[in-house]
Amino acid sequence: MSPQNLIEAARMARKNAYCPYSRFPVGAALLAASGKVYTGANCECASYGGTLCAERAALAAAVTAGEREFLALAIAGGNQPLTPCGICRQLLSEFAENRDFPVYCAPAEGEDCLHTTIRALLPHSFGARDL
Ligand code: THU
Repeated sequence: MSPQNLIEAARMARKNAYCPYSRFPVGAALLAASGKVYTGANCECASYGGTLCAERAALAAAVTAGEREFLALAIAGGNQPLTPCGICRQLLSEFAENRDFPVYCAPAEGEDCLHTTIRALLPHSFGARDL
């Protein structure tokens, strides 16, 4: 699947975001090694700290379906290429044995996308190998 198709899937998922507090919808699409794509949208909570980001929603959906290996992630939201928050970087890192795991960061609309990697997003990371 092309980066553009994965970004499109993230943009579709973004339409289902539940974000009455921030009004900042985000979508994510995760390509599993099986070839299946799992999507997520942010889900907010009146107790703000309970908010779930789109990336972790997509990861949870994939893991629940039995997936453990992933090939790429796309996220979409805002006016400029949206990069994952720190908590999402850490959870993504858990499943990104390949540190060159691609992360396609897109705005809600337009062509201005940032293609990066988990290595660049979370350098010197802590992980299972450190335990
Ligand atoms: N959010 C995401 O879903 N992913 C990100 O990468 C950044 C932030 C959500 C959380 C919250 O619902 C809203 O965007 C504003 O922070």
